[in-house]
Amino acid sequence: MPFPESFLQELVERNEISDVVSGYVRLTKRSGANLFGLCPFHNEKTPSFSVSPEKQIYHCFGCGKGGGVINFIMEIENLSYPDAIRFLAQRAGIVVPEDDRDETASRRARMLKLLREAARFFYDELCAPSGEAGREYLARRGISGAMVKRFGLGFAPDSWDSLLKAMSTRGYSQAELSAAGLIKASQKGGGAYDTFRNRLMFPVIDVRGSVVAFSGRILGDGEPKYLNSPETLVFSKSRNLFGLNLAKKSKKGYIILVEGNIDVVALHQAGFESAVASLGTSLTPEQARLISNYTSDVIIAYDADDAGLKAAQRAISILDKLDVKVRVLRMSGAKDPDEYIQKFGAAAFDNLISRSENHIEYRLAAVTGKYELSTDEGRVSFLREAVDFIAALPNTVEREVYSLRVAELGGVSEETIKREVERLRKKKAAASKKQYERALSRPVRAAQPKQRAIRYKNERSAKAEEGVLALLYLNPELFLKTKLAGEEFSEPILGKLYDELLAQTLRGGRPQISLLAEKFSADEISLFTQLIERPLETGRSLQALQNYIDIIRSENLVRITGEQPESDESIARYWEQRKEQMISDDKGYGGRENG
Ligand code: UTP
Ligand code: MN
Repeated sequence: MPFPESFLQELVERNEISDVVSGYVRLTKRSGANLFGLCPFHNEKTPSFSVSPEKQIYHCFGCGKGGGVINFIMEIENLSYPDAIRFLAQRAGIVVPEDDRDETASRRARMLKLLREAARFFYDELCAPSGEAGREYLARRGISGAMVKRFGLGFAPDSWDSLLKAMSTRGYSQAELSAAGLIKASQKGGGAYDTFRNRLMFPVIDVRGSVVAFSGRILGDGEPKYLNSPETLVFSKSRNLFGLNLAKKSKKGYIILVEGNIDVVALHQAGFESAVASLGTSLTPEQARLISNYTSDVIIAYDADDAGLKAAQRAISILDKLDVKVRVLRMSGAKDPDEYIQKFGAAAFDNLISRSENHIEYRLAAVTGKYELSTDEGRVSFLREAVDFIAALPNTVEREVYSLRVAELGGVSEETIKREVERLRKKKAAASKKQYERALSRPVRAAQPKQRAIRYKNERSAKAEEGVLALLYLNPELFLKTKLAGEEFSEPILGKLYDELLAQTLRGGRPQISLLAEKFSADEISLFTQLIERPLETGRSLQALQNYIDIIRSENLVRITGEQPESDESIARYWEQRKEQMISDDKGYGGRENG
């Protein structure tokens, strides 16, 4: 059941966008009416994420995401449309009219019950005589029975349908098993088979203690090494961490972030029960926020290879934005924490923790290691990169401290470094201002959208269609004079947007981006937000509109008749016929009075 429009209007009004966004992003005022901050959806050092309280939209000039308050919450909290509505209603203290909440809630509850029973099944299989292969593997990796119990590890038998059969007997339908990601439909049609076969099973347990997914490791070599549950009603990979259900109870005061599930288990076994892993993906902003709910001290202990180093840098810049102290642990002689503990023991690992460096030290050490400081040439290159690095530090005290350090390392005066750092910061500030201004003054976008999922077939027409949408959004009264239909657009999605905005306008009032969230995808809303975030020349909007419509209709004609654009005559003829209908000053669209 859709939510009533009057309720949605109130919901949007009571959740002022800059107010909502500032719960997630530190916004500072800049450039006219807009507020700016670091984009929560991609990694960046200079703010290109803007919020317009006037238009009630957000928009990132960097990654192109944008929209209204509802889809902001959908994206950042990773919620479905109805759940985002409930979230915002709760925030504003307003009551949601009767909805399908009960049905969704009961489907969730049943899926969680199924996943718990599946975890129990895998555990029992590991303990059964037939689970010998799984137990052997655990023994080889040195994982104790206590850890099997603590993590609820299990074994998926080497069979096509053992879980399917067991859960069917308990009354779960194939549809339910498939929705939970436990079985897959077979290619030939008809049947289905277990997703996880002949694998060591790690249940993913959320902070409430519910089994929400599985991660299954192959026994021995082979591809893929790990198989993970797909996204489901109860599981989102980017919002869960393996081991957090246990780590959150730890008294250690810090959380250790590792790459592998096995590392988590090995660390717990060695007494470091605050280890978590990010489920394969590199750390996401949502996961970082989740961690920061439980600690403000994170130790990164990623694998000691290039990939681990890169992932650590990315994780640092994400954690850096939340008030979290980050240290990085540097291992040598082993490729990951699991191997390190096997080789050198728990005490040695504890020693690594106490020697772990704060992340600035860590990154500075990486820069230092790249150059030969005994040569003039090496020192110059080092100083150049180090100054660059210091200039990017957000904190004044940190810049002071590390300027001194770099001066010593490079054998120059502290003043020189400070001067260079300041010069560079000024230069960067100017460049980002320019970039911002350039983004603002770009004309209606050329070519293809930033959103990869949307590809225009007819760029000429699409450009005009974008122009129409932008113009009409800013001057909705023009809608009532424009007899254009969405179906004339070359891009169905732009046509659909047009029809929706038109319907909103006809229902009275301004078109609202916030209200698009139900019918349009995040990409589609982002694309539209991008279009209207560009200042338009409003003086000649009627003329511009006419030109856009001209292009759309001639391209449409070409599409319908199959004639080539060269055939000016037929376009002219068609054009003559449509001209009077296009803009009419007296009659509104659909017979509605214009006023
Ligand atoms: P690793 O390959 O480091 O796995 O991947 P690991 O857990 O340390 O396993 P061992 O020690 O080699 O047995 C790190 C994490 O990346 C995810 C898993 O969550 C894994 O724990 N991953 C890895 C996948 O999701 N799929 C893969 O194919 C591989
Ligand atoms: Mn590993």
